Amino acid sequence: MKLSVATVFATLSSVSAFAPSSMGIRSATQLEARKPFISGNWKLNPQTKEEAVKLAADISATVTDDSPDSDVALFVPYVFIEAAMASAGDSLMIGAEGVCPEIKGAFTGAVSTAMLDSVGVKWALAGHSERRVIFGESDEYINGQCLKLIEQGMNVMLCIGESESEYNQDLAGAVCAVQLKKGLAGISKEDMSRVAIAYEPVWAIGTGKVATPEIAQSVHATCRSILADMYDQETADATRILYGGSVTPESVDDLMKQEDIDGALVGGASLDAEKFGRIINFQV
Ligand code: 13P
Repeated sequence: MKLSVATVFATLSSVSAFAPSSMGIRSATQLEARKPFISGNWKLNPQTKEEAVKLAADISATVTDDSPDSDVALFVPYVFIEAAMASAGDSLMIGAEGVCPEIKGAFTGAVSTAMLDSVGVKWALAGHSERRVIFGESDEYINGQCLKLIEQGMNVMLCIGESESEYNQDLAGAVCAVQLKKGLAGISKEDMSRVAIAYEPVWAIGTGKVATPEIAQSVHATCRSILADMYDQETADATRILYGGSVTPESVDDLMKQEDIDGALVGGASLDAEKFGRIINFQV
């Protein structure tokens, strides 16, 4: 079924992203149900293997016995994956920033799920707005990436989020609904345990304009209700939804206090071990 933003928006009045929320601050039980997930996306950085090795080691050193009980991952350029793994040790997972939905053959420049699996990668990103916009990846292509990762026994972090003009038209919930439904098409309820969602409003990425905790919480609650419609409440309640977009040491604590924010996907601040270390060691 083709789902346009307008169609979904018209039929999803109950999931307006900015409906008043009865949600509040997370409780200890909720924290246990969805283990926090703090992750960094290095994008096209750093420029040398030496820098990547040092950064992974420095970030790894910020995870201590006193750190929150979270999953911590770095999504790094393919070429640095193995070096970063060796450098980070056990305290961090090293993931890939993307994957090709084809498994083998004439796809110059591509990297398959089998290749990633063979070097020990467990997680990959799919659907980042930079891949959607700059590299023209469609919802169908992104769905192919998600399906192939699951088929390979791996995990996927599906990134979704609206543009600034969509946000201004109160279309955040509708855009997320389309991206969730198309991105997760064919993924079973059982396989949702290997999926995390990253809500990254495009207007907040790399701009310094972090969404307020209230806005982020509201869209996250909307996304969770969309997942409940697509699967069921139990699956929705178990799925981790991370926030991404200009997260800093200053903003992380208030974001992580929100009931439906289960983690962060961090760009710029993940290139600075001290800043990312503070984000890993968030306080709620
Ligand atoms: P920034 O944290 O630099 O805004 O980037 C967010 C992001 O795109 C993570 O995937």
